[in-house]
Amino acid sequence: MNFLHSPSAAVSRTYSLQLPVITLLLLLITGFARAETGKPPDPESVETGRQLYNSYCIACHKRDGVGEPTVPWSIRRPDLVEAMPLNETSHAWHHGDEQLMSIILDGTPRTRVRMPMWRGALSEEQAADLVAYIKSLWSARIIACQGPNHMDCM
Ligand code: HEC
Repeated sequence: MNFLHSPSAAVSRTYSLQLPVITLLLLLITGFARAETGKPPDPESVETGRQLYNSYCIACHKRDGVGEPTVPWSIRRPDLVEAMPLNETSHAWHHGDEQLMSIILDGTPRTRVRMPMWRGALSEEQAADLVAYIKSLWSARIIACQGPNHMDCM
């Protein structure tokens, strides 16, 4: 018997196509295609993110994400947490895209000392745009090393 022409082989061929197609559609609908760890950001998303950054983030993380200057220890308040750079000189790139979105929207115990939690003020889509802008401050090499890969690139 020729299995290739049996009806069950035709059915399983149909199903094997369905999964990738559905996954792709879901990715497009949910917008995750724009935010992908280790991949360069979408230019439109970068532009929207740049405007959001200049409104909400620049006061602390400074122009082009260079961060606040280090305060000398002799005059520094012991509880001061400086807004670190978001460009590639610090470690924002050690986080994947989704992790960066979660830091922006919900914070971490360390960021909450000073940085507002942005959920409510900013949507998930706007957080994704901000991540795209932050990634536009990194070189191609650093983008390729983003997230779980960062240990291999140190
Ligand atoms: C009031 C000051 C302030 C503002 C405004 C602010 N941040 Fe922060 N941010 C901080 C501080 C402080 C930290 C924590 C620094 C640390 O952990 O040493 C931080 C940490 C972060 C981190 C984690 C970086 C890392 O390497 O782990 C990200 C990402 C971030 N901020 C993004 C943003 C974005 C995007 C905005 C604008 C929507 C923003 N921040 C606005 C003060 C601020």
